[in-house]
Amino acid sequence: MDRNWRMYNLPFQEVLDDIEEDIIIVTDPPYNINFKYNTYKDKLPKEEYLDMLGSLIKNYPCVIILYHEILHELTAHTQIIPDKIMEWVYSSNNLRHHRGIAFYHCKPDLTKVRQPYKNYNDPRVKEQIRRGSKGARSYDWWHIQQVKAGSKEKGIHPCQAPIKLMDNIIKVIPDDYVVCDPFMGGGNNWCCKSNEQ
Ligand SMILES: C[S@@+](CC[C@H](N)C(=O)[O-])C[C@H]1O[C@@H](n2cnc3c(N)ncnc32)[C@H](O)[C@@H]1O
Repeated sequence: MDRNWRMYNLPFQEVLDDIEEDIIIVTDPPYNINFKYNTYKDKLPKEEYLDMLGSLIKNYPCVIILYHEILHELTAHTQIIPDKIMEWVYSSNNLRHHRGIAFYHCKPDLTKVRQPYKNYNDPRVKEQIRRGSKGARSYDWWHIQQVKAGSKEKGIHPCQAPIKLMDNIIKVIPDDYVVCDPFMGGGNNWCCKSNEQ
């Protein structure tokens, strides 16, 4: 599936001011961990950082990928509780192997991402396949490898989100919005063709 997209190289507030359509935010934001990005500082005062993310979840339906401890801080700061938190799970040499995917003012429809059936001998599964089913509904966690130096999709950005992850998210969110990533980084996630038809 080809996607129409437009890209802005601007601070995110200016982009949001420019967009007139109804948008849903889908983003892998800065984590405020002093990462060395080219343009933006990744070490804001805590209040300022939480206000920045809070301004998104207060004003838009949003899907935000974050460490759980930051999600908890964001909840305490904004008093806005996500409607659903899914999990992005990956193998890593570091101690951290998962992040939350928090859905604000929207919920994922997990029937829109299919995964292989576990038991093809189950008569109910056989019947589903006979009716044309392409797999079982997705779990509420996804095991998707991080983009590493040797990954096929590796571009120039130092911490890319995997295309598959962003692609899955776009599939499960309500489709009556324009998707906006205010912290798009290298932009590999969106300037791409979907892996699946
Ligand atoms: C975690 S990275 C996102 C990487 C992206 N998902 C990718 O795959 O390339 C966060 C990005 O947000 C950008 N950023 C930080 N503050 C910003 C701001 N105020 N406006 C726009 N972008 C910002 C950073 O430069 C960084 O590229």
